[in-house]
Amino acid sequence: MAGQRENRTLEKFIVEGGTRLSGEVTIGGAKNAVVAIIPATILAKGPCIIENVPNISDVGYLLKILTEMGASVAFLDKTTVRIDTTHITSPLVPYELARHLRASYYFLGALIGRCQEASVSMPGGCHFGVRPIDQHMKGFESLGTRINIDHGMINATVEGSLTGSHIYFDVVSVGATINVMLAAVRAKGLTILENAAKEPHIVDLANFLNTMGADVRGAGTDVIKIHGVDIMRGADYSIIPDQIEAGTYMIAAAATFGDVLIKNVIPKHMESVSNKLIKSGAVVEEFDDSIRVSRTGPIMPTTIKTMPHPGFPTDMQPQMTAMLAMAQGTSVVTEGVWDNRFRYVDELSRLGANIQVDGKVAVVQGVERLTGAPVKATDLRAGAAMLIAAFMASGSTEIEDVYHIERGYEDIVEKFRCLGAKIRHVDIPDVDAPAAL
Ligand code: EPZ
Repeated sequence: MAGQRENRTLEKFIVEGGTRLSGEVTIGGAKNAVVAIIPATILAKGPCIIENVPNISDVGYLLKILTEMGASVAFLDKTTVRIDTTHITSPLVPYELARHLRASYYFLGALIGRCQEASVSMPGGCHFGVRPIDQHMKGFESLGTRINIDHGMINATVEGSLTGSHIYFDVVSVGATINVMLAAVRAKGLTILENAAKEPHIVDLANFLNTMGADVRGAGTDVIKIHGVDIMRGADYSIIPDQIEAGTYMIAAAATFGDVLIKNVIPKHMESVSNKLIKSGAVVEEFDDSIRVSRTGPIMPTTIKTMPHPGFPTDMQPQMTAMLAMAQGTSVVTEGVWDNRFRYVDELSRLGANIQVDGKVAVVQGVERLTGAPVKATDLRAGAAMLIAAFMASGSTEIEDVYHIERGYEDIVEKFRCLGAKIRHVDIPDVDAPAAL
């Protein structure tokens, strides 16, 4: 009704700090694997059953995109989805949905592989400075694809047939390795990807593609060899546990002087995080598929440099920096992957952190205490860092823009609450909402 405001709410997390986290938490499926595996189902003739699918908003958008493109999508239970892309007719990915997440660009590789043509919006995603996709384009063009960018859309067409090629990536890129792999599995002959990324989600995607009948070898090393195949069929597959979600709970346990068993983990994937936590004075015990993290002594200062896998993950950098904000001494954190991944530091300073940033280096001077304050989640992992800092701070912290966090962490409020955290998810009427038309 005219004059009334739109009924919009703002979601916030409100945290009372000072609790030692304890108990058990179970990790869900990996975000950065599932956001590649869902588009990859386009390559299959027949239905796929994907298990261990995390309940996160990025998954929601990708499944909506497939449904709009004509696929049949149905959840068989909370974490299992059946996807049948047989009836997808158009290589056009809906703009409005695709621009919500960066991983929608994986439809490019999958559609080039299946239809030899694709039309996808330019990617969105977290603001870490410039995020070029030149290596994706270089790979597609090497396979014989012509690319043009028009009205915010990337349009790809293949003249003749998609043909295998030897591609050397100038930078180690998760996205380019995945996207070109998605196209190359259906290209004629051999494709070699050199200087490829080695993250666990790359190996998970390659395993899924091979389960559908592809021939991908060497994923997890920096040289991947792909023999193109004519047919790929539907398959059943279970997504690996989320390395970054697991690392986030490990750091939260260590930061709060807690004692937490993190279940459904692949300890090998957590080595770089475990090593740094041990350096910081925490106790890390590995079991077959779980890790126990506890701390009794002080947080010791530590030097961190983020690198592609198996180096320390850049997606764990904000969470680790938040913990080091209360270390007994000075830590140096160097961001080795992204140009500008310290935007969240201003928010941490509101809680009393003492961090000097100079380009890609942050000098973290440990303080005795943090105190609660209103802060914003500036992106997905920065949001997780705000939560960890809020647990460490005395008093109440309000975290705004939590939609960033829900993009990549399933049931995060419930999971932390089960560990004893005092956390609430509140919807507040948005007084700035525009007048309803
Ligand atoms: C993936 O992003 C992850 N996202 C990111 O995680 C993660 O931070 C990043 O890999 C690094 O590990 C997903 O998997 C969906 P890149 P991506 O291509 O693929 C440069 C999270 O929090 N580059 O490996 O976009 C680029 O600028 C998200 O879950 C080029 O120069 O990252 C960067 O400096 C945030 N040209 C570096 O390579 C290209 O064509 C690594 O980028 C591509 C990348």
